[in-house]
Amino acid sequence: MPMIAFFLLLFLPSVSPNTPGSSGTYLEAPKFPTAGDCPSTDGYCNPSLVHIAITLDLHYLRGSIAAVHSIIRHTTCPETLFFHFVADASAGDLSAIIRDVFPSLRFRAYRFRIGRVRRLISSSVRSALENPLNYARNYLADLLEPCVRRVVYLDSDLILIDDIRHLWDSANAAFSDAPKATIAAPEYCHANFTLYFTDAFWNSRFKHTFEDRRRPPCYFNTGVMAIDLERWRKMNYGLQIERWMEIQKRVRIYDLGSLPPFLLVFAGEIEGLNHRWNQHGLGGDNVKGSCRGLHPGPVSILHWSGKGKPWDRFDAGEPCFIDYLWKIYDLHASSSSSSFSSIFSW
Ligand SMILES: *[C@@H]1O[C@H](CO)[C@@H](O)[C@H](O)[C@H]1NC(C)=O
Repeated sequence: MPMIAFFLLLFLPSVSPNTPGSSGTYLEAPKFPTAGDCPSTDGYCNPSLVHIAITLDLHYLRGSIAAVHSIIRHTTCPETLFFHFVADASAGDLSAIIRDVFPSLRFRAYRFRIGRVRRLISSSVRSALENPLNYARNYLADLLEPCVRRVVYLDSDLILIDDIRHLWDSANAAFSDAPKATIAAPEYCHANFTLYFTDAFWNSRFKHTFEDRRRPPCYFNTGVMAIDLERWRKMNYGLQIERWMEIQKRVRIYDLGSLPPFLLVFAGEIEGLNHRWNQHGLGGDNVKGSCRGLHPGPVSILHWSGKGKPWDRFDAGEPCFIDYLWKIYDLHASSSSSSFSSIFSW
């Protein structure tokens, strides 16, 4: 049975500009053998599939490709993974590159119209975090078909060094234990939650927002999270997030971009996953992108959140030590060229 990968004409017509085997500046990923006892998972709606959502845009494409490569390299049953790529509609057909790099990958691509979210983004949020594709995760419940009940959303600046099925299984166990939870993600309760919102927020009626939550509100990073899409759709959380974004346009209640609306809706309601699933902050701070090491403890996901991205640091000839772990999964053919030329030479 050949691997099935779908393109909905509705979303992105699949017209590949590349001849097979040559995806321009990206190498084809090596084939990884699959274990003998993998479940059969034909179709898009098969309940044994692990669903993974990742965004695609020009600047992060190299990161998205490395992320996918790391995932298939560390899983026992690659054909049981189904990828959902939410692509910047203005960036051309990036899914054709995915097809060339990963010929047997099962995926669908969805066109994300950035205009929908641009009018919602407050002009007061910091421009560095203003990429409208950051907001695509708010719309997964609408984009993916109703038969997809759960999905793991992953940022493009991370790699897995563990089987994603373990993450999937932990999230499913968390959702079974807590039927009222919609998000499962590592939580960071030592971070000072007050600081994610402005004084205007804490001095207004909004300060009561977190009072009826199941647990005290804590920071979580939205770059790695499992979402119960069924419950999300039922509760219309997408609309709740948009309502907070509308409020932010009138009153400046936070300074960051896409994260605070998620915290406003979900903090105190999420199910915590083991911190091994998001060793974040490897991109350094948000201003300089300085080098950072790992936190103590086991690691299954390395996440270059923060300003410094490993592909940019390699291109600049100044990689951090930790970036060499990312490089193992880099499929960029001419990694010494500048990111500008690599973007446009395919
Ligand atoms: C958190 O930050 C706020 C605002 O700066 C401060 O008033 C509060 O004492 C801090 N809380 C803790 C636990 O550090």
